[in-house]
Amino acid sequence: MMDRAVAREKALSVMLRAYIFTGLVFMLLPGTMLGVWNLIKISSREAAESVSPAWIQAHGHAQLFGWVATFILGIGFYSIPKLRKLSPFALWEGWLCWALWVVGVTTRWLCTVYPWEWRVLMPLSASLELAAFLIFFQAVGSHRPSRGAPKAWESWIFVVIAATLGLFASLGLNLGASIQVALHAASPAFPHEFDQRYLIVSTWGFLVPMVWGFSARWLPVFMGLRPLRNAFLLAAVGLNTAGVVMGFFEHFTVAGVLLLGGAVLAVVSIRLFEPSVKPARTTTIHESFPVFIRIAYGWLLTAAALGIWASRVREAQGIWGASRHALTVGFIAAMVFCVGQRILPAFCGMRTLWSARLMLVMLVLLMTGCALRVASEILAYQDFAPWAWKVLPVSALIELTAVTLFAINLVVTFLRPAAVVPNPLTIMTE
Ligand code: HEM
Repeated sequence: MMDRAVAREKALSVMLRAYIFTGLVFMLLPGTMLGVWNLIKISSREAAESVSPAWIQAHGHAQLFGWVATFILGIGFYSIPKLRKLSPFALWEGWLCWALWVVGVTTRWLCTVYPWEWRVLMPLSASLELAAFLIFFQAVGSHRPSRGAPKAWESWIFVVIAATLGLFASLGLNLGASIQVALHAASPAFPHEFDQRYLIVSTWGFLVPMVWGFSARWLPVFMGLRPLRNAFLLAAVGLNTAGVVMGFFEHFTVAGVLLLGGAVLAVVSIRLFEPSVKPARTTTIHESFPVFIRIAYGWLLTAAALGIWASRVREAQGIWGASRHALTVGFIAAMVFCVGQRILPAFCGMRTLWSARLMLVMLVLLMTGCALRVASEILAYQDFAPWAWKVLPVSALIELTAVTLFAINLVVTFLRPAAVVPNPLTIMTE
């Protein structure tokens, strides 16, 4: 019995490593490299519209779906059935989901960057992504609880469900818009107005509540925080969902206020800025972990506030861009870097992170690059200070260095031998 559990644990950890490695490849090449290239081109011409929308969207899709969503699917397969004490899913479902997802996201990137047969490939890639999601959903969402599972759901589960529905909505919109573009457009890019509304769903509607859900599950333990305020967390998700719906229907100011309200409630519910009651569990990572988690949540609030400002200004491309990267780099990437380095080595065969010092260097670089990017995008794009165009490429290279160090730290960690044989009974609670 125990042998079978250990064998399954090993197989799950191999599968998780495949998801993480794939996500890292998307993060580095189709995601960050293309983002840096776009930004260097925009800065050298001092014009935000000098890069093709298809290339910008290829970068955004690779980061949100190729990188972060691939991590989330892998971590979801690995952890959700254990955390909810569900009966196990068949491993082939996890691998089939991985294969369809990778082919879908890769095809999407290729046919937007090099528009060959894109009228067929774009809808096809969107269908593959949706099919992969449905496999994930039925594998980790519809299995009956095993014996010993708690009857009542904890509040973080509702938050993860809301986020999963956000992912489903994003993929459905992506498929619908891909078909429309294939039938009627001249290039493989979503129309600007639709893209803005779609991005609200895929960032605030999917990634933000997903990070809140996993924060609510893990941060009280990892940071020694006071017990979670469940009602506040559910209210936060309610406000956030209302904000996403308002944003999708182009009521951007109301949306911004609701999203900011939701973010404040999420912070209050997790009690992030209240004094800890127990020491943080940071023995396997850098001890600055709680500081960077708090900075990341500061970026979340900044992103929402910038969104309200952008909605009140007529030509606000720079403020929207700053808000988006405050959210995606300052909050989402920073949370993935912090929590990822805390949990992934343990999930992937009870390893310990290769270098805690590299983690610190990488987080300092990421936060520096993000601050320079957010500030100088507003100053340059909004024509407040022309010298800021020169800062933008520097910010891009600093962020590129940070993500590369993150990838190196994780890959070396996975290549090193495991410290102990994984124990499937204790792995989720340590
Ligand atoms: C080295 C780091 C990065 C650089 C240099 C970069 C660069 C860019 C540039 C130049 C744009 C075009 C719009 C604008 O000027 O604001 C853009 C858009 C975008 N980026 Fe990034 N980015 C980086 C990291 C990220 C990360 C980590 C994410 C997500 C996790 C992300 C998600 C997006 C999204 C969703 C868009 C909008 C795409 C669209 O309009 O459809 N970026 N990025």
